[in-house]
Amino acid sequence: MKSGYWLFILTICLSGSGIAASFAQEYDILHPPLGTEGIYDPENPGIEYLQQPSEALSLLPSSPTGNYVDWVKAMDDSLIEPRASIYGDQIMRAISMDVIMQQTGSMPYVRFPHYDHSLILSCTNCHTAIFLPKKDANPVNMYTILKGEFCGVCHGKVSFPLTDCFRCHSSVRDKRVLDE
Ligand code: HEC
Ligand code: HEC
Ligand code: HEC
Repeated sequence: MKSGYWLFILTICLSGSGIAASFAQEYDILHPPLGTEGIYDPENPGIEYLQQPSEALSLLPSSPTGNYVDWVKAMDDSLIEPRASIYGDQIMRAISMDVIMQQTGSMPYVRFPHYDHSLILSCTNCHTAIFLPKKDANPVNMYTILKGEFCGVCHGKVSFPLTDCFRCHSSVRDKRVLDE
């Protein structure tokens, strides 16, 4: 009876550590250890003092593409709180204004969320070097984006990739347009 109990505990522990090991393996694939990713020098003795990406990133909500972290959800869940300045002595200026961009051919409209961007960037990151702050005042289309302009300054480089079509094209088209 008693030995059956211990066997049960042992089984739980073993399968628990098996699960933990397979998680660790999965995160190693998603967030390769420093020095194996072709950026850091594995010979540099200082490398052991750096935090491994998987240690920090595996705690954040995951996303199927890019660097496998859903940064907007991480902010929504208050898991990260980007600073407005290095010393944290300024505040982020958040605005909740969506711009619905409608020149999308047969694709759903693009909902540009100012709120999510303004939690992570300042207005001057985009206005006016990348976008004039006026609806439809910028020649944005997939060609210019793929060339690395407008949304393509960041998306596909430091923010989620351009293959995530419906994360940008997320707004259901005007019903009148659908009926036409
Ligand atoms: C990530 C880039 C980005 C950031 C950061 C950003 N904006 Fe914008 N903003 C846009 C885009 C894209 C548009 C739409 C332009 C278009 O339709 O051609 C826009 C449009 C606007 C407009 C015009 C809206 C309209 O209906 O005509 C205003 C006003 C504006 N932004 C203010 C701000 C302010 C204030 C901030 C900072 C709190 C800010 N923006 C931060 C990208 C950004
Ligand atoms: C980072 C955001 C983003 C992503 C990702 C994205 N688009 Fe777009 N797309 C836009 C914007 C912005 C426009 C221009 C809207 C406007 O000016 O009104 C646009 C326009 C378009 C248009 C209209 C014609 C053209 O060539 O501009 C099509 C079609 C289109 N996108 C298809 C796609 C497809 C297919 C994908 C995925 C492979 C995709 N888009 C991914 C933002 C995006
Ligand atoms: C200056 C850099 C920059 C520009 C320009 C930019 N974005 Fe972003 N965007 C970001 C960052 C950073 C995030 C958050 C990280 C991530 O999700 O990859 C983000 C997130 C988003 C999200 C995710 C919102 C969510 O709920 O998950 C959407 C949608 C989006 N951007 C659309 C656009 C569109 C459309 C444009 C062009 C009209 C654009 N962005 C231009 C940097 C930028």
